[in-house]
Amino acid sequence: TQTIEVGLLGFGTVGSGVVKRLTQAATKITQTQGFRLHLAVVAVRHLNAPRAVSLPLGTRLTDSIQSVVTDPQIQIVIEVMGTLVTAEAAIVTALKHGKSVITANKDLIATAGDRLTRLAQRQHCDLFYEASVAGGIPILRTLTDSYATDEVEQLAGIINGTANYILTAMTATGQSYGQALVAAQAAGYAETDPTNDVGGLDTAYKLTILSQFAFGQALTLAQLKPTGMTAITTADCQAASKAGWQVKLLAQVQRHAGQLYCRVAPVAVPNQNALSQVQGVQNGVAVTSQAIGDCLYTGPGAGSTATANSVLNDVIVAAQHWVQQTRGPVVNPDQQRLPVQSLTE
Ligand code: HSE
Repeated sequence: TQTIEVGLLGFGTVGSGVVKRLTQAATKITQTQGFRLHLAVVAVRHLNAPRAVSLPLGTRLTDSIQSVVTDPQIQIVIEVMGTLVTAEAAIVTALKHGKSVITANKDLIATAGDRLTRLAQRQHCDLFYEASVAGGIPILRTLTDSYATDEVEQLAGIINGTANYILTAMTATGQSYGQALVAAQAAGYAETDPTNDVGGLDTAYKLTILSQFAFGQALTLAQLKPTGMTAITTADCQAASKAGWQVKLLAQVQRHAGQLYCRVAPVAVPNQNALSQVQGVQNGVAVTSQAIGDCLYTGPGAGSTATANSVLNDVIVAAQHWVQQTRGPVVNPDQQRLPVQSLTE
């Protein structure tokens, strides 16, 4: 059985989940794929920090990212460090060393995805980032495969699990914003610094990636001007709910008459709209297209296991490409430049 050597950068919420899922799925992978994934090394910031998950026998721990991304044995690098600058440098070096790269880093892909994709194309390497948007929902692959010949007209999503968890808790249980945020952090949904979750930036980053896949065009933060949900109170949520609306942090992009219109802001969604029923840490992405019409994709939007599972699915595809020797060049989903208007103005 052929063995594919994997290096993991980061051993936090998602990294621990990846180690667990790799261990749990090892037999199934060998049986169904005909190859074996070997987690050769995990790079961490502090070698002696306490860990919730133990490493499998035969997996090394290192505090040198460089040693992983330049290691000639490693074929696939998984980047789940949750940083920006270090992650970009690591991914660039890994691609330059001919490795396939899987990342869950939405901040990085939203701001540097185009540059990294072009590098991957030149290097004939795979670069996948399904886990960067909507944790457990395979939305990027769905947009790529199931809409290949279709035209997306509009997309609306609840794509930050932390914000939706807080808004749902404020509405349903009357918790304060602060109490609900602490619970979201304890469950491992929030970023280390939750400012981007509640401030709309995390949603904006994910919308720009979704827009690439839905419309072939990434968006910028300047175009999106995201508004977060920090000004929303428990009283606002409950009053809206009594009147038949649910307050949601909504991401929207639509194409109309040769322009894209976009928005990231808290919106009162009427109960008749299926997105209003997306509760807690669930995410929901509603896609309207010419051939299919309306589809709603829902599922866990954050959390260690769901996100790690999505990372692992990308690893499987990258490993298949290694085995079949069909790696890259990856298609760049960011291809056109329509004028963009903010719906908020
Ligand atoms: N903090 C993010 C969220 C994690 O709450 O949605 C998943 O990207």
